[in-house]
Amino acid sequence: MADSWEALRSECLQCRACGLAQTRRHVVFGVGAQDAKILLVGEGPGQHEDEQGVPFVGRAGQLLDDMLEIIGLDRTSVYIANIVKCRPPDNRDPLNVEKDACVGWLRRQTALLQPKIIVCLGRIAAKIIIKEDFRITAEHGRWFERGGVQMTAIYHPSALLRDVSKRPETFEDLKSIQAKIRELSAHAAP
Ligand code: URA
Ligand code: SF4
Repeated sequence: MADSWEALRSECLQCRACGLAQTRRHVVFGVGAQDAKILLVGEGPGQHEDEQGVPFVGRAGQLLDDMLEIIGLDRTSVYIANIVKCRPPDNRDPLNVEKDACVGWLRRQTALLQPKIIVCLGRIAAKIIIKEDFRITAEHGRWFERGGVQMTAIYHPSALLRDVSKRPETFEDLKSIQAKIRELSAHAAP
């Protein structure tokens, strides 16, 4: 039977497939337009996301909103999700077992959305979605094609909060994403 957003969300909200289920307050499923052409993928919820059940609502999220605005996008014109849907305690990196247990939800979201462009926010998403040996410092802003989907990675907004010297490069990467969107919509079937 075909998946539906409603079924997927309610199934996901009950998930206890990994240890993060024990400490989470909310499963952070994702937010945005169900027909968005652009999917943004972060790492996992932090404290504020865990409290509210919405991705990227803390400081990094505010910066992400500003980054989207620079290229004429907002939360209603993209879809935003994470590799793991529950908060890792103390904001540690998600473990391999947790990523492996959780990534199926993202795959089902991606199958429903059928995005044209996937933007990985940071190294952890890029390693899972683009390639295992992805190097964010060397390869951010580059384009990769996987099964007809254009993919790139940019620095995680949290990294940009910690290190403002990365921001000019990220501005270039955002412009490249904007150009890719224009290129794809120019070629889109009427
Ligand atoms: N960082 C992430 O990777 N995802 C969020 O949802 C919030 C912060
Ligand atoms: Fe399920 Fe993912 Fe939450 Fe683990 S992190 S319990 S796999 S939704």
